[in-house]
Amino acid sequence: MQISFVQAGSIGAGSHVVGVLEGGALAPSAIKANEATGGALERAVKAARFKGQAGKLLDVVAPAGVEASRIVLAGIGKGETFDSGAAERLAAAVIGKLLASGDETITFAVDVPKKSKLSEGELAAHLALGATLRSYRFDHYRKVAEDEKPTVNKVAVQTRARPAASKVWAQLSPVAEGVFLARDLVNEPANILYPEEFAKRTLALRKLGVKVEIFDVPQMKKLGMNALLGVGQGSAHDSRMAVMQWNGAPRKKAKNGPLVFVGKGVCFDSGGLSLKPANSMMGMKGDMAGAAAVVGLMHALAKRNAKVNAVGLIGLVENMPDGKAQRPNDIVKTMSGQTIEVLNTDAEGRLVLADVLWYAQSRFHPRVMINLATLTGAILIALGSEYAGLFSNNDELANRLAQVGYKEGESVWRLPLAEGYDRLVKSKIADMKNIGGPSAGSITAAQILQRFVNNVPWAHLDIAGVAWQDSEQRPLIPSWGTGWGVRILNRFSEDYYEK
Ligand code: BES
Ligand code: MN
Ligand code: ZN
Repeated sequence: MQISFVQAGSIGAGSHVVGVLEGGALAPSAIKANEATGGALERAVKAARFKGQAGKLLDVVAPAGVEASRIVLAGIGKGETFDSGAAERLAAAVIGKLLASGDETITFAVDVPKKSKLSEGELAAHLALGATLRSYRFDHYRKVAEDEKPTVNKVAVQTRARPAASKVWAQLSPVAEGVFLARDLVNEPANILYPEEFAKRTLALRKLGVKVEIFDVPQMKKLGMNALLGVGQGSAHDSRMAVMQWNGAPRKKAKNGPLVFVGKGVCFDSGGLSLKPANSMMGMKGDMAGAAAVVGLMHALAKRNAKVNAVGLIGLVENMPDGKAQRPNDIVKTMSGQTIEVLNTDAEGRLVLADVLWYAQSRFHPRVMINLATLTGAILIALGSEYAGLFSNNDELANRLAQVGYKEGESVWRLPLAEGYDRLVKSKIADMKNIGGPSAGSITAAQILQRFVNNVPWAHLDIAGVAWQDSEQRPLIPSWGTGWGVRILNRFSEDYYEK
């Protein structure tokens, strides 16, 4: 979809979107459109009892004498709560309604309401972001009916601050691309996107100046990554690890060490010999969503030429039952030297991450290390699909993630790490076992990860509840794969490490 920022004023072809404040008062550009339509908008607001609530829409077929096909009245809500997220949701709602409407162009003529803290440029760019994120489709594998095919290919945002809008958009458009890339990877089924294929797709980042290395099984064996390899050994598809480096920081800042992002990339999680029941296995093609977010993030950072050094590492495996599969009671020796008794082969994400985290910190000496993983079903029980779980050994890092997550609409909620939980993963025969007891499942999983982290500020995001969605209700997310993680981590880098 093509985005442009255009001069305010005219009503051209296609759909023309104007704002209505909570209570039903027309915003300035809506007043203009009302005049151009001989008062049709005012009459429509009355007839439909439209109250201008945030996210609500009323579309009016344009009367004769106006070039547009329709005028869309979009609820702004209260001016003081109209922030960048509200602007994104408004534009997204419009796209959701009109993407296949027959119109090719949608023009937004939405003013910054009084009391809103948004600048004109920010408003325009965030309208563009909301429209773009909602326009995502994943239609490679189906035939789309004629009347469902998207027709909108241009979004024009009217603004009195075109240079400012373009400048903000130059930073946001790469993020939208990163989110699309992450969604694509999550949506792909596992018969297409197995570890080798996933690794191959990361090579596309090279075009953006990212250094990409792929590790195969013999290379990982040499490194001693037996926990990761144990998970993959029952699959017909070999395991891989991809390492992606973006070096955008000015020389003098490079000595601080890079930001390091680690993703769980279980391309399919059958549970292994501790096989999942049929219903729980559905959706497990998305068990690589942490890795997908890391790839999307690296894309965003490189594309906007971020002044930061960042490394993304992803452990790519398929967890399958087979004659060669790892058994409950097996003991694996991790790259760190610590041994793990595998009591449940379905607790595999922590085994993968144990080795990738260790490798990441040994090689790169990170300034901070953050991992993303669809790690536990228990996090869904605790937090549902609104917040991701956050675990950290560092209060400042945890607070920063909470801040940027909230701002970007990817909220996180911190849960504890503590000695008492750590005790629950002690094993009589190895240094630890890979499951705790029946309770605090997300925390015991995090405790295991922490055993592979030394003195590095570290955070673990358990994204099992937010990485995909079965009902498509979020204004900015029209697909199963959400692309969660790209926005929070991009903003984390931007707000704290690029100045
Ligand atoms: N990939 C799953 C976690 C998951 C569950 C993600 C539901 C998304 C939705 C993970 O590998 C897993 O199977 N965890 C087990 C751990 C248990 C065996 C200790 C779980 O949560 O049941
Ligand atoms: Mn599992
Ligand atoms: Zn898993």
